[in-house]
Amino acid sequence: MRYPEEIVQEVMALNDIVDVISGYVQLSPRSNSHVGRCPFHNEKTASFSVKQAEQFFHCFGCRAGGSVLTFIMKIENLDFVGALQFLADRVNYKLPEKEESTSAKEQRAARELSAELNKKAARFYHDYLFSEIPDAENARKYLDARGIHPALVKRFGLGLSPPMWDGLLKHLSDTAPQHLAAAGLATQNRKDAARYYDRFRSRLMFPIIDSRNRVVGFGGRIMDPNDKEGAKYVNTPETSLFHKSDQLYGLNLARKARKNELIIVEGYMDVLAMHQWGFVNTVGVLGTALNDSHVRLLKNAGCVSVLLMLDGDEAGVKAMLRAIPVLVKGGIKIKTLGISEADPEAKDPDEYLQKHGAAQLAALIKNAKSHIAFQVGLFKEKHDMNTTEGRVGFTHDAAQLLATLPSAIETEAYVAEISKTSDISQAAIHAEINKIKGIPQTAPPAALRRRVQATAGGRGIKKAKETLLHLVLTYHIAAKALEKSKYIGANEIGGGIYADLLTMAFDNARSGKQMSPAEIITAFESGEYHQAITEIFVEPPTYDSKVAVEKALNETAFIIKRAWALDEMQDENAKNDPKTLQSLGFMVRNMPSISM
Ligand code: GTP
Ligand code: MN
Repeated sequence: MRYPEEIVQEVMALNDIVDVISGYVQLSPRSNSHVGRCPFHNEKTASFSVKQAEQFFHCFGCRAGGSVLTFIMKIENLDFVGALQFLADRVNYKLPEKEESTSAKEQRAARELSAELNKKAARFYHDYLFSEIPDAENARKYLDARGIHPALVKRFGLGLSPPMWDGLLKHLSDTAPQHLAAAGLATQNRKDAARYYDRFRSRLMFPIIDSRNRVVGFGGRIMDPNDKEGAKYVNTPETSLFHKSDQLYGLNLARKARKNELIIVEGYMDVLAMHQWGFVNTVGVLGTALNDSHVRLLKNAGCVSVLLMLDGDEAGVKAMLRAIPVLVKGGIKIKTLGISEADPEAKDPDEYLQKHGAAQLAALIKNAKSHIAFQVGLFKEKHDMNTTEGRVGFTHDAAQLLATLPSAIETEAYVAEISKTSDISQAAIHAEINKIKGIPQTAPPAALRRRVQATAGGRGIKKAKETLLHLVLTYHIAAKALEKSKYIGANEIGGGIYADLLTMAFDNARSGKQMSPAEIITAFESGEYHQAITEIFVEPPTYDSKVAVEKALNETAFIIKRAWALDEMQDENAKNDPKTLQSLGFMVRNMPSISM
């Protein structure tokens, strides 16, 4: 769902950023900004600044930033469209009906109906859990015995489904049963299509709530331990509204913790236990492997690193190993914690907490290993480290893993560690890694190595990219000159948001469109992007002449190109191709002359 850009800009124009933020933060005017205490992190001094002229905010403490829309997204926990609707409501602006095809309209209406029915069901199950019926009393006792207090039961909206074939169907008797079936709440009788029965019976109900705060489905845990028939858990089937691989249990609550690290566990009960013991930034996967949709959800919740804390059994370890590359690809940092390593008797985080309490788990979390160390640990278990053969096998496995690391600095650190464990020299391990990577066995010249390390991913390069993007987004003539020179493109600037901004600058220059920082920010939906764009505009350099602009353009472009070329020289293919190496070497040494 996307509203046209004019609509977005109109709603923004009606909502002055200082007005809106003043409703949440006490702001005092300064010479060219309003300042206050940041609502997104704890602070005593005021490092939160709102610029009325540019219509954006920025926190110099936690680096949160963006437009008025970003602010509402973050503070009200809404997505882009939700925040837009919020701001439209605030000024009684009526958003236009979106143009939708008839079938899209029908599908959306069906999803909305499903969400509404699921919400009604959640309320019904919840009330049933708190009723005077003996079953309900037993369920409450069960939760209590497992350390889940009533306040948490309410926060998560837990419920109980009645032990009947038609408990919910009767309760929602004014709804056609086929709608309940479409919502995943009822099942059609296979033999007699006119008959329906409740999908969930006698189960502890865990409502699953999406990022728009809709109840999209349920997990239902069996209550009667003697029930050998039913599965331990029954989930809502895949419906138009519910896709279990697109949901993270507890994310609606965990994102409110506003931590940039989230903890991922395996089970419903583990999420509950973690929240009960104060680890409120915990989410659960719904019995599926972690996938790209999960990564998107995590990133939208502002998560930059995760702690994987899956069950200690073989399946849990396998799941962690599968999750690691998915998260790496998504650019999320990973730590891992094997619960059974800490206590072989504890099967999952829930059991660990019951036995050892929060302080001990917090200590484990503090010392959690990186995913590399976790995988190296598994290799250690696989081989008999008391034999030479075992140590060689271990080193081979470890070298395979380290050969996948993009950063030389990281590789260096792990090689030292592995050398210590295996008693095999660092030089031999390096040689093995290089062999795997297909790198010739001679070391690159020390001077080049130093330069790569000094520049790789450094602060200086980020600054150069920000400065260059500010230049081309502000001055059309700089953007035109850069595009014409073909000196810096999407690859050189680093892909992602920076590439998108570069393209936007080129497009604007061509069409003559001037965009304010706030307009640029809200051209993108993700809060992450908003923050990155704000950083570009928050304290830009000033230029007093065209010559100064041109000079800055050339200098920053050179820094970016040089870093890119040095990086490319490390590529396996480039290493074996003298021509490529030569042309990259030329780029490293020679400043461009882009003229405006
Ligand atoms: P307790 O045994 O009550 O502590 O629950 P748990 O959440 O720790 O369950 P367990 O460790 O057995 O399973 C972990 C997760 O896997 C669950 O929370 C479910 O998401 C999923 N799961 C387990 N058993 C089943 C099942 O029979 N069917 C389905 N669909 N999912 C299951
Ligand atoms: Mn458990």
